[in-house]
Amino acid sequence: KRVAILISGGGSNMVALVNSMTGDHQGRAVLVASNDPAASGLVKAQAAGIATAAVDHRAFGKDRAAFEAELLRHIEAAAPDILCLAGFMRVLTPAFVARFEGRMLNIHPSLLPKYPGLHTHQRAIDAGDTQAGCTVHEVTAVLDDGPILGQARVPVLPGDSADDLAARVLVQEHKLYPAVLRRYAAGDRTPVLL
Ligand code: GRF
Repeated sequence: KRVAILISGGGSNMVALVNSMTGDHQGRAVLVASNDPAASGLVKAQAAGIATAAVDHRAFGKDRAAFEAELLRHIEAAAPDILCLAGFMRVLTPAFVARFEGRMLNIHPSLLPKYPGLHTHQRAIDAGDTQAGCTVHEVTAVLDDGPILGQARVPVLPGDSADDLAARVLVQEHKLYPAVLRRYAAGDRTPVLL
């Protein structure tokens, strides 16, 4: 399967996905695209020999549709079978999502349906949760919603800062996303539970 990955920053999840796609049967990364030309993940993708594209969303002001049309031009040129959002920080319109419905995944740093949106780790700490984690789900028009394809859990430890918890969860993200993509690319939607 041909896989395109969208990033906004460091792209550590993208690197984990790329490193997991060794045999062709596990898929091949055909494009890494970012909404930020300065995303350091783009350099990592280039170092891995993967085609990259950067579409600066700030160049389009409030015209989200125009930004997405340009992003889509790059994505369609790569003809991916699956689109993976990995630390991608822009909300996509229902029109964009509709083009990839059923073949677009996202990783979110909480145990959905708890804590959709931002600041997930601080919210878990503030709520006194003893567990936290990450979720890979199919992307639908509703933000951080959609069928859950995998989850990984970590303990919240006394005295944890949001950064401590984020670091603990990120380790699991790098295990979960490749495991889910491998299964999803094989047409298996059975959730991966780590
Ligand atoms: C991380 O906070 C991760 O939890 C979330 O996006 C952020 C950056 O991820 N998925 P990455 O290192 O750019 O993949």
